[in-house]
Amino acid sequence: MNVEIALKDRAYEVVLGEGVRREVFDFIRHSRPRAQALVVVTSSSFRTQSWFDFVDAERVQVIEVPEGESAKNFSALEDLCEELAQRKLSRDDVLIGVGGGAITDVVGFAAAVYLRGVPVVHVATSLVGQVDAAIGGKTAINLAAGKNLVGAFHQPLGVFCDFETLASLPERERLSGMGEIAKCWLLEGRDVRSLEATSLAQLIEMSVRLKAAIVGEDELESGRRALLNYGHTLAHAIEALALARDADELRHGEAVAIGLAYAARLAHVLGRVDADVVVRHDEVLDTLGLHRNVPRDLDTMDIVRTMGHDKKAHHDLTFVLAGPQGFEVVAGIDPETVVRVLESFRGEA
Ligand code: GLY
Repeated sequence: MNVEIALKDRAYEVVLGEGVRREVFDFIRHSRPRAQALVVVTSSSFRTQSWFDFVDAERVQVIEVPEGESAKNFSALEDLCEELAQRKLSRDDVLIGVGGGAITDVVGFAAAVYLRGVPVVHVATSLVGQVDAAIGGKTAINLAAGKNLVGAFHQPLGVFCDFETLASLPERERLSGMGEIAKCWLLEGRDVRSLEATSLAQLIEMSVRLKAAIVGEDELESGRRALLNYGHTLAHAIEALALARDADELRHGEAVAIGLAYAARLAHVLGRVDADVVVRHDEVLDTLGLHRNVPRDLDTMDIVRTMGHDKKAHHDLTFVLAGPQGFEVVAGIDPETVVRVLESFRGEA
């Protein structure tokens, strides 16, 4: 099944289904017939999976980058660009990111800046990648000050989300994807009672369709696309703080789940929604098996300071919040309220 990202001169398709990774090279041959070099960028944990068989090492070059978030820094980006230059990748050629959200973020960014832009195709093999990171052209690396603070918009030629690659996904990676799926379920205002009866394939399709509709309307996040950052103000802060001490402590979607629960409580305390909205958030997270505990030993004031560095912040504390008019970006929230709600939320654990 294909979902179109309807951008005027850069429209492309997200191809979803079992085994669709095998269509990638035919797709590139048709869409970029002048391409001579095809360079797959991945990391060793993906390269050793049985599904990696779709990459024919005789015809395709493979470059490995470090695992996970350790690929998302200037040093790894520089190494990758040097490799591309050594292999003489030209603007006619195609870069192919194969892996999870961290891979598609850094490969997308390399594709945006190397030679001022080369074509890229993403083969998203994790749930976070398939429902969010690989779609919509956001690319980024991290700074010590926060996640994804350096990046560019660079739309891919196409995105392939192969459900077969999810079978080998570690449990925490699956849960991480569920955090982004929970965000989409809540943004769509869907009924929690139908959640259990919805298959994983349907959840992925729902998330991709929501993202396609929003990105098609607001590619560069000047308006509605910011709603896709629901739960992310707290998530990015706790993720960055946890990452600084242990790369494995908190996955992106796990942090998003915590951020969603917190955002519902903040909206309630600010008088924007009734208590039943908080209950609905908790039910959705519980049904998807997600926890909502902020890591115990992170300091509340460190978290709030880090939230102030978020890209969405306008020199203040900015959140996507539910409200009487639906979801909206709310800037300038009183820091004392943010701290009080965070303390009380942490106290629930
Ligand atoms: N991950 C949010 C966005 O792509 O806009």
